Amino acid sequence: MCEEESNGFRVRQYTFGKEVSEDDEDERSELVVFIPEILNSQYGTYVWPSAVVLAQYVWFHRRELTGKKVLEIGAGASLPGVVAAKCGAEVILSDHAELPQCLENCRQSCQMNGILGVPVTGFTWGDISPDLLAQPPLDIILGSDVFYEPEDFEDVLSSVYFLMEKNSKAQFWTSYQVRSANWSIEDLLYKWDLKCVHVPLITFHGHSPHLAGSELPGRHTVQMMIITAKGT
Ligand SMILES: C[S@@+](CC[C@H](N)C(=O)[O-])C[C@H]1O[C@@H](n2cnc3c(N)ncnc32)[C@H](O)[C@@H]1O
Repeated sequence: MCEEESNGFRVRQYTFGKEVSEDDEDERSELVVFIPEILNSQYGTYVWPSAVVLAQYVWFHRRELTGKKVLEIGAGASLPGVVAAKCGAEVILSDHAELPQCLENCRQSCQMNGILGVPVTGFTWGDISPDLLAQPPLDIILGSDVFYEPEDFEDVLSSVYFLMEKNSKAQFWTSYQVRSANWSIEDLLYKWDLKCVHVPLITFHGHSPHLAGSELPGRHTVQMMIITAKGT
């Protein structure tokens, strides 16, 4: 569902539901989140198909999230991070340090969903700054559609590597849109001592054509994977 406003600004609603197979009656059965979007602007000001898949994965694992420390990278409109925060995780949102509009979008998404006190920070992939290394301990790193530009792949994975050096048990939950059969991160995973497991969408109900009540991911092919440090 979408509320059209002015100048390309709109708010989209995403509804995450309990599946019939989930039978614990005490559980909240539904989560509704609202995400502001600015169209015709930077990549990080609207929700990409991968974000809905990752948010569904987060929702599916909501019972494990209470109190978990979560950092979303390349967050943009921040749908997965917002869902994680609504499910009780302690979330930090981040996007490119030199894209203030994307960082502002992260803040707006939090505000619109009544989640206060979520830190929003500039973090540019590959920039292994003292700020990055000073991040509090992390359990989960989220990243949806952060593998969309092959020249950035190594910066994303080297950042994940350095974060995992400090947090050896952390997991990188990441979804990506298949844009070219020739793109691969296999060599880079090997180089940066990381390993990856692909998660079939059907296992977390991420395959629905109307995921979270949206038209995303539509006809796009989206995949989900979990990256961890080798040796864990
Ligand atoms: C394709 S968009 C995906 C946005 C959001 N995660 C989603 O799936 O809806 C890529 C995001 O990565 C951010 N980004 C691009 N290059 C980056 C970099 N070098 N460092 C950090 N973030 C970057 C963009 O600002 C944008 O928010």
